[in-house]
Amino acid sequence: MRNPIPRFTRLLAAAALCTAAIGAQAQEVLKLGHVTPPTHVWHKVALKIGENLKSKSGGEMTVAVSPLSKLGSEGLMMDMLRSGALPMAILTVGPVSNREPAFMGWSLPYLFRDVHHATAAASTPVTQDMLKSLDKHGMVGMGYGFAGMRHVLSSRTISSPADLKNQKVRVFPNPVYKDYWQALGTAPTPLPLSEVAPGLTTNLLDAVDIDLDALVGMKFHQQAPNLALTNHMAFPSVIVVSKRYWDGLNDKQRKMLADSIKEAEIWGYTQAVTAEESNLQTVVKDGAKLQKVDLKPFTAIGEKVSQSYTVRYPKIQQFYQQAKTAK
Ligand code: BEZ
Repeated sequence: MRNPIPRFTRLLAAAALCTAAIGAQAQEVLKLGHVTPPTHVWHKVALKIGENLKSKSGGEMTVAVSPLSKLGSEGLMMDMLRSGALPMAILTVGPVSNREPAFMGWSLPYLFRDVHHATAAASTPVTQDMLKSLDKHGMVGMGYGFAGMRHVLSSRTISSPADLKNQKVRVFPNPVYKDYWQALGTAPTPLPLSEVAPGLTTNLLDAVDIDLDALVGMKFHQQAPNLALTNHMAFPSVIVVSKRYWDGLNDKQRKMLADSIKEAEIWGYTQAVTAEESNLQTVVKDGAKLQKVDLKPFTAIGEKVSQSYTVRYPKIQQFYQQAKTAK
């Protein structure tokens, strides 16, 4: 039977579809989710990945960044990465270690001297191996992000662990944090970042384990002003791409994406190191009161907790040895 639509109209429609298809490709927008506020260094790294990718792809691939858990919790984001519903994310190592316990190595107390030392550990063989281990969870581990070291913010003054005895300390929801704060004699209270401000307002919390980047962004020092620079842990993130999404890209697209992430990752290291100093100046100017603290008892307890993990997990032992001497 003769097609009732004239041939010329059909050709025009086909051309339009073709343009739409090219247009769709020309406007491929990769969603990237993370949990930090837009002032945080990981948000800046995410934007940098987007800039790099746009320029390398001549505008064909761009990134839409969603901060502050707008796409859901990190657990939910990992499910979305596995299904391919979310192409990219920057995830804190805490929830990643629920899937791959070796990532708990990043949170061992008093393993790292400072942010620079932690960034040096990102290129050790063991940490690169750990990225590869994410494949079986539907994620391609592309690299690491760094925030400031963890410190303590408290509504009361602090000079030693005794001042925190039985105090409700907000901890990052992860076993290493819980073990460390329990060993210090406090009552660790696991809460996500989004629930810290209400926790301080309602006196559910007496103190908070936090990095300075998040502190500057969330201004918790306006609720609990005493800041003890305990420097007890590093706080890395993992930059991941959905394996399902990655497998659907061609070689050229994969290279553009991998290079864009690598360049942003390295840029982020320097940003994190310099942010530690500038964030400290910002919070002190904004009213945070620096505490005089004897760090020896914190360090001694932290090292014991670290040991309890290295003896239980051979991979964490390997991590500890390589990270300790990383330069
Ligand atoms: C936190 O829960 O303390 C946190 C999470 C992401 C980035 C920084 C801090």
